[in-house]
Amino acid sequence: MTQPQEHRAQFATRLGVVAVTVGSAVGLGNIWRFPYEAGANGGAAFMLLNLFFVFVIGVPVMCAEFVIGRHSGTNVRSAFRRMAPVQAWGIVGYIGIAASILILSFYSVVAGWTMEYIYRSIAGFGGSTATAMHNSFDAFASGNVRPTLWTIAFLLCNYAILARGVEKGIEKVSNILMPLLFVILIAFCIHSLFMPKAREGLTFLFHPDFSKISARTVLSAMGQAFFSLSLGLGGLITYAGYFSKKTPLVKTSLLTASLDSLVAILAGVIIFPAVFTYGQEPAAGPKLVFEVLPAIFSEMSGGVVWSTLFFLLLFLASLTSTISMSEISIAWFCDDLHMTRRRATRLNIGIAMALGSLCALSFGCLGGFKIFGMTIFDFFDYVSSNVLLPVGGMLISIFAGWVLKKSLVRRELEISAGHTRRLAGALIFCMQYVAPVCILVVFLAGIGIIKL
Ligand code: PFF
Repeated sequence: MTQPQEHRAQFATRLGVVAVTVGSAVGLGNIWRFPYEAGANGGAAFMLLNLFFVFVIGVPVMCAEFVIGRHSGTNVRSAFRRMAPVQAWGIVGYIGIAASILILSFYSVVAGWTMEYIYRSIAGFGGSTATAMHNSFDAFASGNVRPTLWTIAFLLCNYAILARGVEKGIEKVSNILMPLLFVILIAFCIHSLFMPKAREGLTFLFHPDFSKISARTVLSAMGQAFFSLSLGLGGLITYAGYFSKKTPLVKTSLLTASLDSLVAILAGVIIFPAVFTYGQEPAAGPKLVFEVLPAIFSEMSGGVVWSTLFFLLLFLASLTSTISMSEISIAWFCDDLHMTRRRATRLNIGIAMALGSLCALSFGCLGGFKIFGMTIFDFFDYVSSNVLLPVGGMLISIFAGWVLKKSLVRRELEISAGHTRRLAGALIFCMQYVAPVCILVVFLAGIGIIKL
């Protein structure tokens, strides 16, 4: 087994480590996806299930990624090549790199929508009813030029940060953005709590009705946990390659999972009181944020300010997540293909611009172009979320649980672990049994082999 590389960049501070890890986890998954999934799946019961999966499966898989990344000190592809007894494990690295580029492409389209909505918040939405917002969103998303230009603009923002490198770019930006995000979220929550139907909104979010739970709901809750924690594609393996030997992995993963869940819950506290107050439908689906909220904002006093803040928040959260997706392939290009950081960044962003434009156009002129019956956007989403991510997460968990020496995993988990030391054994058990079995069920259901 090769020793970790020397002279590699490292995140400078403990706060930096938390900021970049939470920055990766917190994104559209929490603020856009969680509320509409919870809205469509009965609210509180979905949230409780999601929390269960975050802590019982998400935390062990995250620890597995941290152990692999920190011990190997390299990118996701080399990590497996160095640590695995058989070369076949290298496929996990390629799965991660492929998934990261696919997710980056469609995620940038939605992030581009948030940029359009920051602009619209200031310039005006051109209507105030939910129907007007629905029509205006459809007209925007199905146009060819604007969504594509916003996708490219969003990726250029990524380039500006990524080209600056690990300490100067990613860590500095995350240190500023993440605390700012919390401040804006909390201010927004307080505002929502004073809405006339805040109580109904909060009841929907916090009072579980387990009769609403179906097998599908369970699967969606687990899928949400994976997507939201950025697990299964090696993003956290790559980041952990920049952790110092003193970074406590168990504490970092527990803190990340807790903060990530907190942001999702805060997003729910912001959105559901507003949805009930303005008589909107919680199960509006993926359009919830882009169609329902602007209608709500336009009726609120000070709506321009709240709307601008909300979409700015969503944009910032997306940015810190896409930076971590990009870093997966950039680290590989730099370490293994010996590219300069600038060149690697250009290549990553260039590929994402090409594929992202196709995804953006799939709502417009490429809408008729289908792969296995799906638009390009939906196909990228399906392949990454339903296939690559669960398969990657399961293999990562099996790798850490069964292939790596237990003493190595235990040592990595126990460094600076303090009172979390006892958890190491439980985490290894979850890596070996609980996580792989659960993920396998999700995957088989996701591709339709098991009918639930
Ligand atoms: N966790 C991010 C979110 O919730 O928006 C999405 C994500 C980021 C997925 C980074 C994968 C990844 F590597």
